[in-house]
Amino acid sequence: MLENSKFCISFKFSGTQRHCPRQRPAARSCSAICCSLLYKLSLLVLLCVLGLLLLQNNSQLKTVEPLPTARIFCIISTFDFRHNSVAVHTKRTWSKKCDHHLFVSNDAHEEVEPAVFAHINDKWQQMRAQLEYVYKYHFDEGDWFLYINDDNYVMVENLRYMLHTYSPEELIYFGCKLRSETNQAYMYDRSGIVLSSAALSQFVLRAMPNQTICSPDPQGYAPYEELGRCLSNVNVLPGDSRDHLGYHRFLPFHMKDYFIGSLNYSLPHHKHFLDRSYYGLIDFKVPISKQLICTKMEYMPNIYNHYYLTYQVKIFGTPQRTLVNEIQKHPN
Ligand SMILES: *[C@@H]1O[C@H](CO)[C@@H](O)[C@H](O)[C@H]1NC(C)=O
Ligand SMILES: *[C@@H]1O[C@H](CO)[C@@H](O)[C@H](O)[C@H]1NC(C)=O
Repeated sequence: MLENSKFCISFKFSGTQRHCPRQRPAARSCSAICCSLLYKLSLLVLLCVLGLLLLQNNSQLKTVEPLPTARIFCIISTFDFRHNSVAVHTKRTWSKKCDHHLFVSNDAHEEVEPAVFAHINDKWQQMRAQLEYVYKYHFDEGDWFLYINDDNYVMVENLRYMLHTYSPEELIYFGCKLRSETNQAYMYDRSGIVLSSAALSQFVLRAMPNQTICSPDPQGYAPYEELGRCLSNVNVLPGDSRDHLGYHRFLPFHMKDYFIGSLNYSLPHHKHFLDRSYYGLIDFKVPISKQLICTKMEYMPNIYNHYYLTYQVKIFGTPQRTLVNEIQKHPN
């Protein structure tokens, strides 16, 4: 009986039902029922196996950590003479990707809606006041605080991704890392600086009130060096923002400066960077990360091109490079 059924099935699969062995009517009808039952059963098993295979594929996606959810609070520094030519374009594009953002300026503006810090002329003193203000009134709105210029372009998702292996409780900050003449690490002012919430609170509560460890005096063109010194005095570490390949994620110059040859030592900004880069560079070339976080705009209206190309354009015929794939490939 069982032998027969198996025999039947093997024929059924090859689509030659009529080759079922002849039998007595009663036995035959029984065998036919079993045959068809087993046939259905085996189809079911087949479907189950297929389903399991599919599930297994999916579960690889499902067991991956969820996308990073750290809240990024963006503090975007601008000035009255840049509101219409620069800040509005940033306001209309990437600033929306921050969990919260606040422009800081020396004057009010209807669209940019900055917090106003009037009558402070020195950049360092502005920064101190602005960071203190954010600590006082917005501290609970972010896990990480990005202090950045109005003409930078930021891929906030990539920042969140870089930070997913760190805790906002760590005393750490990131950016484009340089080394001063006194061997003090600090972040370049032409790119963003991101402070953990612990670092921000240490800066405001411990560094700022103490003149020995953090100067209240004007710093001219070197406010970021002083920030580096203050932070190191309260044990905040300058983090490494490069990716797993050692490629750079915070770029202080326009994209074309990197893509057309190498940086140019006879340009003052490039020289400054090349002289002080914390990490060694070969032939003035900066390897650019595919997990790029920050770059600088040369011509502000181009920011709409960046924004569209980053978030809207679908490239057909290439596998989607999702954050999930990246996390699978490089679980830091
Ligand atoms: C300021 O910092 C210095 C160096 O850490 C320390 O010796 C001094 O006691 C601090 N001053 C105050 C008022 O906390
Ligand atoms: C570097 O900059 C200088 C000054 O602007 C310029 O004369 C020179 O052609 C540049 N070199 C390269 C290789 O772009």
